[in-house]
Amino acid sequence: MKHEQQKESDGLGVNIRSIVIVAVLMMLMMFAVHCTWVTSNAYSSPSIVLASYSHDGSRQILDDFREAYYWLSQNTDNDARVMSWWDYGYQIAGMANRTTLVDNNTWNNSHIAVVGKAMSSNESEAYKIMVSLDVDYVLVIFGGVIGYSGDDINKFLWMVRIAEGEHPKDIRESDYFTDRGEFRVDAEGTPTLLNSLMYKLSYYKFGEFKLDYRSPAGFDRTRNVIIGNKNFELTYLEEAYTTEHWLVRIYKVKKPDEFNRPRIPVSERKIKRSKIFVTKKTNKRKKGTIKNKPSVVKGKKLSSTQTS
Ligand SMILES: *[C@@H]1O[C@H](CO)[C@@H](O)[C@H](O)[C@H]1NC(C)=O
Ligand SMILES: *[C@@H]1O[C@H](CO)[C@@H](O)[C@H](O)[C@H]1NC(C)=O
Ligand SMILES: *[C@@H]1O[C@H](CO)[C@@H](O)[C@H](O)[C@H]1NC(C)=O
Ligand SMILES: *[C@@H]1O[C@H](CO)[C@@H](O)[C@H](O)[C@H]1NC(C)=O
Repeated sequence: MKHEQQKESDGLGVNIRSIVIVAVLMMLMMFAVHCTWVTSNAYSSPSIVLASYSHDGSRQILDDFREAYYWLSQNTDNDARVMSWWDYGYQIAGMANRTTLVDNNTWNNSHIAVVGKAMSSNESEAYKIMVSLDVDYVLVIFGGVIGYSGDDINKFLWMVRIAEGEHPKDIRESDYFTDRGEFRVDAEGTPTLLNSLMYKLSYYKFGEFKLDYRSPAGFDRTRNVIIGNKNFELTYLEEAYTTEHWLVRIYKVKKPDEFNRPRIPVSERKIKRSKIFVTKKTNKRKKGTIKNKPSVVKGKKLSSTQTS
């Protein structure tokens, strides 16, 4: 895993390289304080299971990936289409038996660029793309809770870059960098970044989340900042499943009738009742009945009530 990230960072600009260096330093610091996250060899696919080692040497397995894939396989239609960054496409197809847009070796550059564009766009723009691709679910990897650095936010600039390569009119990498050339997810991050689909799906509800009593709400352990856009709602998607450590987050893409539904004013709302329920409700039933009612013999008093 580490090796992979090293390789990725080679091609990046100075800004990102410095972020990577900071991230690595942070990881080293966390090793002393906490524990380090490494991939386990226990399973055939190296990135399916994460293991953490605390300094006393004990190992804890994080099974979020399999948890998510199991959820997908059990709770979605057989023909559901899942959009995710292409790193996970193959796993989703293999482990959840669901169609993915971008997967394995057949990756088609223009296809990947479309997914990158959806992830980089704001929610309404992304929705148009998702509808055109017939996407039912979106899956993102989020490491901010456990401090896992291989997550989608850290890969996000690649998505932006690939999207820009094919859609230079719609996506510009510079929109994701601050004036000082920094890529940051805290309050100084650019509006384009803080409103992108990837940002929102990673950080949805995270602004209310406190890791422990010492850290402030919305503190991202991977990037060591408090996130910049905390209280937002989703319009076109809804959270469908988030794994135990928030590592995998799955969202359902709403159908047009699910978000176009007109709001009914409270005064005009009616509580729906089934007809059977209403007609069966006689006065006697309303009072409530007890099963196996004890038979009461009239005229006799219990000794306890006599004394009172
Ligand atoms: C995988 O999905 C296909 C439909 O897309 C279904 O026919 C098949 O039975 C599924 N396989 C398993 C093992 O669930
Ligand atoms: C992987 O690629 C092959 C073609 O090379 C394709 O037929 C197959 O559907 C892909 N695998 C999955 C799991 O989608
Ligand atoms: C790649 O995908 C795009 C969009 O789905 C399609 O138009 C194009 O023909 C594909 N190219 C190849 C080489 O498969
Ligand atoms: C979303 O992005 C599109 C294209 O960049 C833009 O026209 C639109 O105003 C944006 N919507 C919101 C709500 O910001």
